[in-house]
Amino acid sequence: MQSAMFSLEGRTALVTGASSGIGRVLALGLAGAGARIVALARRADRLADLVAEITAQGGSAIAAQADVTDPDSIERALDAAEAAFGTVDVVISNAGVTDARNFLKIDAAARDAVMDTNFRGVWNVGQAAARRMVAAKRPGSIINVASVLGLAVQPGLASYCASKGAVIQLTRSMAIDLMQHGIRVNALAPGWFKTELNDAFFESPAGLERIARMPARRLGTLDELVGPVILLASDAGSFMNGSVVVVDGALDALLA
Ligand SMILES: NC(=O)c1ccc[n+]([C@@H]2O[C@H](COP(=O)([O-])OP(=O)(O)OC[C@H]3O[C@@H](n4cnc5c(N)ncnc54)[C@H](OP(=O)(O)O)[C@@H]3O)[C@@H](O)[C@H]2O)c1
Repeated sequence: MQSAMFSLEGRTALVTGASSGIGRVLALGLAGAGARIVALARRADRLADLVAEITAQGGSAIAAQADVTDPDSIERALDAAEAAFGTVDVVISNAGVTDARNFLKIDAAARDAVMDTNFRGVWNVGQAAARRMVAAKRPGSIINVASVLGLAVQPGLASYCASKGAVIQLTRSMAIDLMQHGIRVNALAPGWFKTELNDAFFESPAGLERIARMPARRLGTLDELVGPVILLASDAGSFMNGSVVVVDGALDALLA
């Protein structure tokens, strides 16, 4: 009976940034919990591979090629989702980019590029999906992927840290404004997980030295994000709203 609380049977989950890394693993994990998946990203070939994998495992999924910085493409993705599965109930706003440079060296265009994807993208997707949930009078769960770098900072990542801090405050604002419609909004704040976003760094001497200084002495594995996201997405998390769920092996807890 308890496991039924974590079930996503009959729900439709839109996952942005599903073509690689965290988004891909979350899409597979949500499908495993019973959700129908709408996999959104710009690289259609990778989305096709993911859809084939979910389908081969007995799940249901469609690919939605879209750019989170382009509101029209998001509307088209939501149209496709509704045509295939009905109103989207769960949104994982995960698409993101990084830019590792000293504050003095980031020009306005580079700053805006990070904000456009990491902050405006989360805004665009969340607003478009929430408007459709409200119009359909359906409850929902929106999970915005922030970072521990939205809570504290590291050198040379000013635009990224600022964008993730903005995602956390946007999440809290969305939670308050959407609560009356039965839509919960939470943020996931991962620590370090090796993906295409950072693999070059974590394979370098500086990256290995960083891992050695982490409380857990290791990176997270992508599967370790699936359980927390299912909790937030499902009825098991029904009173979780406006929260920031940190999944980081105590990285953020240590003053170092
Ligand atoms: N890895 C970590 O340690 C870590 C830690 C904390 C937070 N995060 C966050 O987790 C999220 C996923 O990162 P990741 O590590 O899995 O990196 P990743 O493997 O590079 O994945 C990023 C994803 O975002 C998509 N994307 C980027 N720009 C997009 C756009 N304009 N429109 C649609 N999709 C876009 C990419 O797909 P396309 O290029 O195909 O569009 C890709 O699927 C990011 O928000 C990141 O900030 C990661």
